[in-house]
Amino acid sequence: MEVVNSKNELTLLVGGYMNDAKTIGFVPTMGALHEGHLSLVSAAKKNCDIVVVSIFVNPTQFNDPEDLKRYPRTPEQDFKLLEEWGCDVVFHPSVGEIYPQKDMREFDFGYIGTIMEGAKRPGHFNGVAMIVSKLFDIVRPNKAFFGMKDFQQIVIVKKLIELFKYKVEIVECPIVREKSGLALSSRNKFLSEEQKENASHIYKTLKKAVDNIAASKVNSDVNKLKKWIADEINRNPFLETEYVEIVDNETLQIITDLKDSTQKRVCVAVYVGNDTQGLFKTAEEEKKIRLIDNILINNTHIENTLTE
Ligand code: PAJ
Repeated sequence: MEVVNSKNELTLLVGGYMNDAKTIGFVPTMGALHEGHLSLVSAAKKNCDIVVVSIFVNPTQFNDPEDLKRYPRTPEQDFKLLEEWGCDVVFHPSVGEIYPQKDMREFDFGYIGTIMEGAKRPGHFNGVAMIVSKLFDIVRPNKAFFGMKDFQQIVIVKKLIELFKYKVEIVECPIVREKSGLALSSRNKFLSEEQKENASHIYKTLKKAVDNIAASKVNSDVNKLKKWIADEINRNPFLETEYVEIVDNETLQIITDLKDSTQKRVCVAVYVGNDTQGLFKTAEEEKKIRLIDNILINNTHIENTLTE
């Protein structure tokens, strides 16, 4: 496995593989790797001859400077894991290498950039688009692997590809979860065992909502369903829901009728803090960690609801 810091070196190395007619699979990450990331590496290995993984904590996509400062950075451990998982090339550039000058580009994704993460994290997707476009230009992959954990990010990246006519195929990979149901995330590193256990209530609630839809146990009023999900999550004293949205799986249009035939996804952002009963008091302990998760509402579930 080669670890490369310079973009010119990376382009040359990948160019060599391309001349040998090898297909390039690319997995962009911000490091602090876990099995969610590694599942993308496995998928890339299955699909392509050469696997390139980037590790770069991209400053332009953080709307909160504190979040950027404390984001976990574990490059040596990441290199070891990637070697074990059969990665061929790691691209690990410095901030100066990627942004020699301030990137002034402003991307306009229209509606899909304005809701959920787009609304709650202003500038986030602009930063994602900056780095993903730069990485596509440097790596020039045949296929790029993204996790459904960041569902809206995939929709944005697909739009970026369409707008700028990149010749790269996006491979969507399923969410990897802990046994408890908690979606793996680099930010889980900040959670205590107790917080993690409580955070698993997020997925349990999403699953319950989807199961209730399947069993026709929900009110077909979407707003009532969203409120039920938020209330159910917030019942856990460690959790505070920021948003619950039910959107069309392709267009992200907000669903107003559960009975229409499109595929739908429930998306949530939730803060994990400490027990609001006031068991933990120091400022450090009060820091909240923001997690996102989502689940597909199966269309057959909706048909069941229809017969309600
Ligand atoms: P990062 O959060 O490191 O995630 C890198 C990739 O891993 C993303 O495609 C993400 O969706 C996927 N991933 C994370 N947790 C996952 C899980 N539990 N199961 C499956 N896949 C998972 O997303 C980013 O970095 C950045 O925005 C990036 C695209 C690298 C641009 O900076």
